[in-house]
Amino acid sequence: MIVLGVNIDHVATLRNARGGKNPDPLSAAEVVYRSGAGQVVCHLREDRRHILDQDLMDLLSWGKLPVNLEMALTSEMQEIALSMEPQLVTLVPERRLERTTEGGLCLNHELIGKIREFHKLSSGKKIPLSLFLDPDIEMVKKGCDLGVEQIELHTGPYANSFFRSPDKFEMERLIECSLYIGSSNVRLAMGHGLDSENLLPLLSIPDLAEVNIGHSIISRSVFIGLSAAISEIQEVLAR
Ligand code: PXP
Repeated sequence: MIVLGVNIDHVATLRNARGGKNPDPLSAAEVVYRSGAGQVVCHLREDRRHILDQDLMDLLSWGKLPVNLEMALTSEMQEIALSMEPQLVTLVPERRLERTTEGGLCLNHELIGKIREFHKLSSGKKIPLSLFLDPDIEMVKKGCDLGVEQIELHTGPYANSFFRSPDKFEMERLIECSLYIGSSNVRLAMGHGLDSENLLPLLSIPDLAEVNIGHSIISRSVFIGLSAAISEIQEVLAR
């Protein structure tokens, strides 16, 4: 069964819009748990536009679901991750002016060195490490060579192209990279831009272990509630 990670960043975004307590990301996590999803995902950004440090602390002490912490590889975030010990760390690129994560990591010489260093430390704390990568086979090969526990393929371009027809290119890139990741014994995750419609074709990809979905679930929950929005995705996953 593919694990569904529900990204609750936008619950915090809404809370932050008024600066009060509501809606509370921890209450959202409780709904995620009761709806049977497998993990809570959150991105602690340098500018703290979504969740705050205290939210992360609360989620980790609540402890009913594993927390997948998305973060940039800055020294501040490394310190937070190593001291708070989430169940999974996903490294993402981060640019201050972006509206959301816009692409995968660019694994250049400098970043590879930093990831190796951080991976030694995270392994020492038994925190599995995931890399968010574009479905670019050369990048994926470099990611697998790093010996990380997971690679999350960026499905944003696939999701954007979903309604253009015929456009098999994005799907083919995902399949090629997935097969390589699977054959390297690295756990395969996917995320970004996924919803109940574009998710279905991805389920035929062998070795897909996890999907992380935020925006479409939180958007849908405005109309039908969070629990029902999660159930819609789970119905697709169960097909
Ligand atoms: N996976 C990663 C690594 C992300 O950065 C995001 C966005 O925060 C998601 C999944 C979820 O993307 P979306 O909100 O478009 O579902």
